[in-house]
Amino acid sequence: MPWARAAASLLGAAAPAAAQGVVNVYSNREPGLYSATLEEFTKATGIKVNAIFSEQGLAERIRAEGANSPADVLITVDIGRQREAVDLGIAQPAKSETLAANIPAQFRDPEGLWHGLSLRARTVYASKDRVQDKAITYEGLADPKWKGKICTRSFQHQYNIALVAAFMVKHGEAKTEEWLRGVKANLAKRPSGGDRDVAKDILAGVCDIGLGNQYYVGLMREGKNEEQKKWGEAINVILPSFENGGTHINLSGAVLAKNAPNRENAVKLLEFLTTPEAQRVFADVNYEYPVRPGVPVNPLVTSFGQLKADPMSVADVAKLRANASALVDKVGFDR
Ligand SMILES: [Fe+2]
Repeated sequence: MPWARAAASLLGAAAPAAAQGVVNVYSNREPGLYSATLEEFTKATGIKVNAIFSEQGLAERIRAEGANSPADVLITVDIGRQREAVDLGIAQPAKSETLAANIPAQFRDPEGLWHGLSLRARTVYASKDRVQDKAITYEGLADPKWKGKICTRSFQHQYNIALVAAFMVKHGEAKTEEWLRGVKANLAKRPSGGDRDVAKDILAGVCDIGLGNQYYVGLMREGKNEEQKKWGEAINVILPSFENGGTHINLSGAVLAKNAPNRENAVKLLEFLTTPEAQRVFADVNYEYPVRPGVPVNPLVTSFGQLKADPMSVADVAKLRANASALVDKVGFDR
């Protein structure tokens, strides 16, 4: 990732304890998604933002920095990473009524240790040419009618771990194991690549359906890569649901760092990220669903259908990640 290079510290000048009028952000997300929003925040509040961007290792870095860490806010994707920050002991509760009002309860930690900012649906990519189905359940992916027809990235990847953990919340461990064995039996090839490769494989006729997050379809179809445009155009996006439930949702989000030297400014920034203006950036730049109800979804994403998120608490999903990973290993899903 080219932006990983931006990790070269912009924080050098930030004095950890005494700084005023600043907020220090560590972000796992691409600078392109955040830079304009952070500038708007500075315009609106006068608070200067120092941001470092790196794809990995920021939570560990904050822990290593300990009490002297300049980090105020950590921005990450995936419920796994939010939870990891909490487990590393680098988060503190934000205790903000504004955040509680703007973010539905199922998408934030009950104690306020992490906050969802945007949502991602684990969807099914389906061949436009070869798949007639308009509705699919997650349970149905184990139906033998899909034998030899499913592609996916590794099931140990955090997106699929979260899906398996959600399946466990719904159905318990034994049924989840059975389901995993069924889906594995339907695979067209060994799990590999990323979500975009699923669309690529569908175009190539390797498989007919596969799992992928909705935003990659926007990035493929409306991005600059001509090859990827073809992958994106080869598929329909189906919003699957659990039987008697809704679509599995993951999220991007943020935590307030435990030793945040600029705590008040950090909470102001978190609150700003839930304003309609900031929420629209997630929708329009990255094709995500805004976490705040009522903020418009990008038209391309709307074309996939009306999202009906499963009502389960994402915090419950996070708790079962390790069990989900062990189960994926047990059935040899990736082998
Ligand atoms: Fe992603």
